[in-house]
Amino acid sequence: MKNAVLSAKALCKSFAHEGGQVHILSNVDLDIYEGDFTVIMGASGSGKSTMLYALSGMDRATSGQVLYKGKDIVKMKESELAALRRSDFGFIFQQMHLVSNLTLFENIAVPGYLNKAKAADDVNARADMLMEKMSIADVKTHLPSQVSGGQQQRCAIARAVINEPSLLFADEPTGALNRKNSNDVLDLLTSLNREGQSILMVTHDLRAALRATRILYLEDGKVIGELTLPPFEQQAEKSRETQVNAWLSSLEW
Ligand SMILES: Nc1ncnc2c1ncn2[C@@H]1O[C@H](COP(=O)(O)OP(=O)(O)O)[C@@H](O)[C@H]1O
Ligand SMILES: [Mg+2]
Repeated sequence: MKNAVLSAKALCKSFAHEGGQVHILSNVDLDIYEGDFTVIMGASGSGKSTMLYALSGMDRATSGQVLYKGKDIVKMKESELAALRRSDFGFIFQQMHLVSNLTLFENIAVPGYLNKAKAADDVNARADMLMEKMSIADVKTHLPSQVSGGQQQRCAIARAVINEPSLLFADEPTGALNRKNSNDVLDLLTSLNREGQSILMVTHDLRAALRATRILYLEDGKVIGELTLPPFEQQAEKSRETQVNAWLSSLEW
């Protein structure tokens, strides 16, 4: 029996539009489990990013609950929510949002310094370890503008996990990368998940979705399909692709 790291109950999100309300998420009930690499798929505009933002407390749901460690983050005070996002959650985006005048090392370490639970020496050691793992130790003192997009995204992953988050959220993390850099990023996420990192990733890229142990399919703000998979193995990628493709076709993807 898996433990839920996050639970959404009757989650709704609407936006004001032309004097009315557009409903983007409609009554979503969902558990995200510890240890899973969960992927949310769906067509462009289906509400994937909206769902990720509502679940992670980056944006507030219109109604419903998002339970994390017994607390409803929808009802949390802004200061409490900000502290939670900083200490318990990690975020990776399509655009890396690195701080341009900080070195790669500083970009990774600063969120660690802001986490009062950790001593600076421990943060520095973990930042160095992560830079090795992400193969960017050789550009430690470079600025983001001095390295490639792939190196920037690997830096953003290291930054996202510096505080050992309970859940790592990723919104189209390979969306701005070429095939080689995408693969490197997906390999790193797969490896983090194998080490126990829970991940919730949004993508419309089939190759990225293949890394999931669970895929949820979103249409018009509702989860209309779910597929559970064994952990990703490179040598079985082809048959996995066939399986996921068949499942997606059944959903008229
Ligand atoms: N801040 C906003 N205000 C109004 N409409 C929005 C806002 N954010 C997203 N939407 C609308 O919500 C729908 C879902 O968007 P989004 O969650 O970004 O989809 P996806 O990530 O699946 O492409 C889209 O129709 C989009 O135009
Ligand atoms: Mg999106």
